[in-house]
Amino acid sequence: MSRHFRIDDARQTLVLAAKGDRLPQVVYWGARLPDGEDLDTLHAAHAIDVTGGMLDENPDLSLCPEATRSFPGQPGLILRDSDGTPLLPKFCYQSHSQDAALALIYSDAANGLTLTFSFAIDPDTHMITCRTALDATRPVHLHWLAAPVLPAPQHADEMIDFAGRWIGEFQTNRTAWSAGMRYRENRTGRTGHEHFPGLIVPCRGATNTQGEAYAFHYGWSGGHRMIAEELPDGRRQIQWGHAARMETAPATRFETAPLYITYSDSGLNGCATAFQRHLRDRIVTWPKPDSPRPVHYNCWEAVYFDHKIPVLQDIANRAAALGAERFVLDDGWFGQRDDDTRSLSDWTVDARKYPDGLHPLIDHVHRLGMSFGIWFEPEMINEDSDIHRAHPDWVLGSEDQTLGRQQKALNMALPEVRDYLYDRMSAILRDYPIDYIKWDHNRVLPMPDAAQTRGSYALLDRLRTDFPMVEIESCASGGGRIDFGIMQRTQRVWLSDSNDALERLRIQHDAALFLPMAVTGSHVGPRHCHTSGRVLDMSFRAWVAAQRHMGFEMDPRELDETETATLKEVTAWWKANRDWMCGADILRLDSADPAVLAEQQLARDKDRFVVFAGKAATSTQISPRPLRLTGLDPQATYRITLANRNTLHRLSRGTTALKTEALKLSGAYLMNHGITLPWSFPERMWVVEGQRL
Ligand code: GLA
Repeated sequence: MSRHFRIDDARQTLVLAAKGDRLPQVVYWGARLPDGEDLDTLHAAHAIDVTGGMLDENPDLSLCPEATRSFPGQPGLILRDSDGTPLLPKFCYQSHSQDAALALIYSDAANGLTLTFSFAIDPDTHMITCRTALDATRPVHLHWLAAPVLPAPQHADEMIDFAGRWIGEFQTNRTAWSAGMRYRENRTGRTGHEHFPGLIVPCRGATNTQGEAYAFHYGWSGGHRMIAEELPDGRRQIQWGHAARMETAPATRFETAPLYITYSDSGLNGCATAFQRHLRDRIVTWPKPDSPRPVHYNCWEAVYFDHKIPVLQDIANRAAALGAERFVLDDGWFGQRDDDTRSLSDWTVDARKYPDGLHPLIDHVHRLGMSFGIWFEPEMINEDSDIHRAHPDWVLGSEDQTLGRQQKALNMALPEVRDYLYDRMSAILRDYPIDYIKWDHNRVLPMPDAAQTRGSYALLDRLRTDFPMVEIESCASGGGRIDFGIMQRTQRVWLSDSNDALERLRIQHDAALFLPMAVTGSHVGPRHCHTSGRVLDMSFRAWVAAQRHMGFEMDPRELDETETATLKEVTAWWKANRDWMCGADILRLDSADPAVLAEQQLARDKDRFVVFAGKAATSTQISPRPLRLTGLDPQATYRITLANRNTLHRLSRGTTALKTEALKLSGAYLMNHGITLPWSFPERMWVVEGQRL
C-alpha cells in the first residue's frame, strides 16, 4: 500500500509518497504535472534499482531520514532522552489533513515521540512554506531537528550559497556537487553577515533569466545549519534547521523555523521574484500599506556621536530641502554615549546633549514635514552602563567573555530583561512622536541559543502589538540580521554599512535574489566614502540608492551646487516612480559584459519597467555590449528612454539612437538583441525607462 500527497500551484508540483506507514519522501518536485497523473504509478516509477554492494532496497530519502532505517546519510533528527541516552526513533503514520495546508502526523509509540510536518503553498507567490515539529511525552534533549528534508535535483552541477562580511554582505559561493556533504553551520547566534540562510540549486545551463532552479531560505535569526549532501547512491538531500545544540534545555516540544522553498522555470529570477513577492506581500506587515515609502535621512555618517541640536536642525533643514521625508536620529542620543565604549542599555535621553529632551529636535523635524525615527540596540549592554552596574547577572555568557565592539549581549530569555527593555523603549515611544526604530545588533553572541532569539522575537512582538504604527528597520552592523524571521517583525533592512555605491551595487544585486526593493534600505553616502576611501560621482551614488528604498546618509553641508542639483533630481525621479517600483519584481539581467551589473525592475502588469545598468569596472572591450532585457511581451511595443542622458560624457561621440531620442521597439527585439547603451566611464549607471505602448 502506498500513501501520497500532492500540492500544486500553476508553476510547480510537489508529490510526497510513502510505503505503508513509513515516513513519506518527496518523489517529485518540479514543473507542474497534469492533474490526472497517477501517483501510485509515479511512486513506483520513482524507485531506484539495486545492484551489487547495495542494500536489497534503497532506504527512503524521507522528510526526516531515520538513522534506524539504514539511511546512508545524515539523519533528520538527533536527540537524547532526559537522562542522556541516545534515542533512535522510528516513525509510523498516525494521521493527516489537507485543507489550506497539508499536515502529516507520524508517531513513534516506543519512544513517545510525534513528528508533524506541514506544507503550505501560495499560488500567487509560488512559495512553499514548510516546517517540522517534534513532540515528546517527557522532556528530551534535542541536538538536531531538520525542517522537511528535500531532494536536490540530479541535473544540477553546482549549488549557490552565501557568505559575506561587514560591508561585504551577500557574497555568492558556487560549489560543485560531489560525493559527501557541504555543511554550513552558523554558530554566531544571529543570522550574520557570514551566513545568509539561503541556497539556490540551478539546474545545468540555468542563468538569471532562463532555465530551472530550486531555492531555499530558512526564516530564523539565531543561526542555522544547512546540509547539502550527495549520498553514496547519487541521490542528494537538503536539510535545514537551527544550528545544532541551540536548544540548551530539555523540553517536550521543538519546532523548526519555516523553511521557504520554490521551484522556478525562469532561471534564478523565478526564485528571486518568488522570495521578493512573498517577503513583501505575505511576510512583512506594513503599518501604512498605502503610504509611499518615505525618503530617509540618517545622521550617522554626518555626526556620529557628536549630537548638537543646532547642527542636527541645520542638517535636517538641508535633508528636507533635498527631498528627505523621514529623519532618523542614530546612535548617541542616550545615557552618556559619547563613543561606543559606554551606555548601551541606559535608554534615557542624554540631558547633556538634549536638556529639553528630544522635543526641540523632533518638533523641528516635524515642522519640516519629515517624520522622526530613532536608533536602539536593545539586546546589548556595555559594562560601563548603569544597568550593568545594577544587574551584571542580566548578561548572556560568562563574565570573562570576549567583548564585541566593547559590548556584551543581554540574556533575552530572562523575562525581567525583556520587561526592562519594554519599559524603557515604550516610555520613549510614548513620550515622543516617533514612527520608526532602527533596531541594531552589533555583535555576535557568545554562543548560539534558541531561547535568546525567541526572547528577541518576543520583545519585538510586544512592542509591535502596543505600537502598531511604528516601523522597524533590522540592522546588525549593516546586514547581519536579514532573514524572513526578523522580517515578520520589521519593515526594512539596513543591507550594509557600506555606503560605497560601487560595493552597494554588487551587494544589492545579489541580495535581490531574496529581497524586494520595498524593504531594502540604500543611502547616498559621503563624497569620500567612510568605509572604502573611494570618491564616487554623485550621479552614481544617487542612482544606486534609487534602485532600492532611497535615503541619504552624508553630511549635507558638504554638498556643492552640482551635487545638490543631481541629488534633488534623482530623488524627485525616485518619488515619481517609487509607488510602482515598490510592487515590481527585480529581475537580474544576464549581462554580456561582466563589468556591467544590470537589473530590470518590471511592474507586475508588465506595462512599465526601468533598467539600471551599473558599470562596476572598466570593460575589456571598447564598446558596450547590448544588454538583453527579460520578462517582456515579445509582441508588444515598448517606448524606451534614457532617463539620465544628461550624464553623457563628451568622450561618448557616436550616434547611438538612445542618446538623443525615445525608441519604440518590440519586446522580442529588446529581449533577443538587447539595448545598445552609450559608452561611459566606469562607476556610472545608465537608467533606461520603458513603457508598453
Ligand atoms: C552599526 C550600524 C550603523 C550605525 C552604528 C551606530 O554599526 O550598522 O549603521 O547605526 O551601529 O553605532
